[in-house]
Amino acid sequence: MAAEAEQSSYFVREIEKNDGCILKMKQCYKGDVGCVVWDAAIVLAKYLETKQFCDPASGVNAWANRDVLELGAGTGVVGLMAATLGAQVTVTDLEDLQTLLKVNIQENQALISSGSITAKVLKWGEDVSDFLPPPHYVLMADCIYYKQSIVPLVESLKLLAGPETCIICCYEQRTEGVNPKVERQFFELLQQSFNCEEVPLDKQDPEFSSPDIHILHIRRKL
Ligand SMILES: C[S@@+](CC[C@H](N)C(=O)[O-])C[C@H]1O[C@@H](n2cnc3c(N)ncnc32)[C@H](O)[C@@H]1O
Repeated sequence: MAAEAEQSSYFVREIEKNDGCILKMKQCYKGDVGCVVWDAAIVLAKYLETKQFCDPASGVNAWANRDVLELGAGTGVVGLMAATLGAQVTVTDLEDLQTLLKVNIQENQALISSGSITAKVLKWGEDVSDFLPPPHYVLMADCIYYKQSIVPLVESLKLLAGPETCIICCYEQRTEGVNPKVERQFFELLQQSFNCEEVPLDKQDPEFSSPDIHILHIRRKL
């Protein structure tokens, strides 16, 4: 009975990888915004598979053995994609999301061979010493959406990013309500310490991309 109840409290979103394997992401009917896979997460996950990171012709796989930290991971799809590509990943979110993250790691473990993935709590603005030295990559999808988070989120990025760290941020540009103001405030604060470069649509996955979903490479100002 308990197992049945647990099964029925999830619904699954499938994301097909370029190699034909399928990430099966459990999402919850009840819960906060992190309980479902957002479009920005799919766009970012599929971007990780593009030619500039993984080129079967040249043999380039930029994810192999790279330390990757995902912020506000929600279901964990972005981090899971990176782990299947060979990265050593830590997916982070608030305490409430840890069960879902662990369920999804378990569900997709068979797709991970040389990489690895662990779920941990990281609340933006709090101690990051568990996540240092700075990772090669910090990934974040749809994490810019409420005012109170902006200062702590940028603070975490400043503490986590070393001179070599590449932050890849994917967000959906929303025009309603407070969203434009929140985005503007985030980027104004971010640009005091970081340089941002937008990834053009033709460098993204041709199917899983959209003009209102932006991908940025963000690096510390030297
Ligand atoms: C819109 S959801 C995006 C989830 C996932 N990245 C995706 O795109 O599918 C935003 C995520 O940020 C997390 N989050 C919000 N505030 C946070 C904070 N102060 N510290 C850490 N994570 C936070 C939420 O729990 C949620 O999982």
